[in-house]
Amino acid sequence: MEWFAHALSYVRISMNFINIYAIIAIIFAFYVAKYVGDKIMKYPPGPVSLPLIGNYFQLTGSESLHKKLLTIWKQYGSIYRLNILGYNFVIINGHELIREALVNKGDSFRFRPISFPSCLGQGIIWSNGEEWHKFRKILQFASRDVSLGRHVMEEYIMEGVQNVAEEMITSMEQPTRLKNIIQKAVLNVFCKYILRVRYNFDDRLFIKLLESIQTISDSALSKFPESFQTFNPIIPLSLQTKIENKKYREAVDTVKGVILNIMKEIMRIPSGQKEGLIGKLLKDKDTSITEDQLVGVLVDILTHGFEASSSCILWCFLYLLQNSDVQRHCRMEIAEKIGFKRPISYKDKDALHFINATISEVQRISTPDPISRPYYTQETVVVEGYTIPSGSHVLFHTYSAHMDHTYWKRPHEFRPKHFLDMAGNLTKHEAFFPFGIGPRSCTGEAFASQTVFLFVSNMLQRFQFMSPVGEQAPSAERDHVASRYPDNFALCAIPSEL
Ligand code: HEM
Repeated sequence: MEWFAHALSYVRISMNFINIYAIIAIIFAFYVAKYVGDKIMKYPPGPVSLPLIGNYFQLTGSESLHKKLLTIWKQYGSIYRLNILGYNFVIINGHELIREALVNKGDSFRFRPISFPSCLGQGIIWSNGEEWHKFRKILQFASRDVSLGRHVMEEYIMEGVQNVAEEMITSMEQPTRLKNIIQKAVLNVFCKYILRVRYNFDDRLFIKLLESIQTISDSALSKFPESFQTFNPIIPLSLQTKIENKKYREAVDTVKGVILNIMKEIMRIPSGQKEGLIGKLLKDKDTSITEDQLVGVLVDILTHGFEASSSCILWCFLYLLQNSDVQRHCRMEIAEKIGFKRPISYKDKDALHFINATISEVQRISTPDPISRPYYTQETVVVEGYTIPSGSHVLFHTYSAHMDHTYWKRPHEFRPKHFLDMAGNLTKHEAFFPFGIGPRSCTGEAFASQTVFLFVSNMLQRFQFMSPVGEQAPSAERDHVASRYPDNFALCAIPSEL
């Protein structure tokens, strides 16, 4: 009987091996068939992806996502494919291909993923079709009208500059962390621009608003590719993600609540006296736009517009600390062209070439918005001979255009000269689009540019900035791999001698 038990276990082991070999053979055959199928269909190439998970873990970890995508670009070329938790993504890199898709084939790249629920409500950033078109049009009109009163906008922004300057003077040249000061000053500019209210820095509601915006942007739902975990029905969410998602939703409700309260107040004011973007939108909106939709649009602007503008100002200070020669050159330009007796106004912008070039170079090398939000194809599109099937998610890798070796002389170096010609005049670049391009480009570019210019130039006029004694200039790493913001660095502000 013993020989029989041996034989049986031998057969079992052999069967196990056969099973393993069979599974390996099936997987191998699957990948070969997929490879051949992809070649025939002319799908973009890409790294091998695992079942269910795809390339998810290749994209998470300690290195920033936009830098990881740069490495994959070098391996697979300007257009490649990744799978994230079952969703197919096409990533488009380099300035030429991004332009070809978003400008020449812009009609095919107007949609956001329909599978991606709008967690912020019915805003503009995640809306599609008629609704998006309507929001975009009224926003463009309203922003144009509000911006026509540039001097009013300038007044709001200069109040913010004054707030920061006062904090700097109070710090008495001691090391000060800039992030919270700049965030509060810029948020107040946005509150005035959008909601026509201005808060004290220590107002409880104002602090809660800032914290809520921070929670929204820090949450997994705002990060890519982490957000796709929440939309994947197969993979269970970790407890931490569930807690973060709950906090996210509470924070969105807080921001909405603030806007809704102010909106109700403004609705009681007679039409001719309605102020700010909110007043303008309420006056102009057609009756088909609901109150909820309007709040959604304003939440989008208050969160995205504020974050993008405040982070851009912080990146400017970081590079000015790292490059004292550039800071000196900027201050010399101010001394020569404006002096120190009056504040710098937006009318002075055209005279300050070097400062403009410095801000552009900061926007290029740091690219606060390095990757577009996901787009979604509703028809098959061919880009550079590759087929992007209908129903694909597409990401445009703006950072890759800003780092494109075929275009920029020394892309990894901080050189304001990238934006100046031999005579010191400003130059335009088709590989530079920090505000995006195509049908879904930024509607707030004019306001953001005015805010960043006035903050940076006026602070440079009033102070010389240095890293604290014994500390190195801050590094250009982000405070979180998926954050727009640089690390929360400290600086010392030495008032200018007048
Ligand atoms: C320095 C500051 C800013 C930067 C770098 C920036 C950048 C961008 C980028 C790159 C996009 C397109 C993203 C994509 O392709 O998915 C975008 C969209 C948008 N931005 Fe900005 N932005 C800034 C400030 C603002 C401000 C101040 C506002 C409003 C007052 C604003 C309103 C919008 C809106 C509404 C969209 C969505 C447009 C649409 O989907 O049709 N942005 N922004």
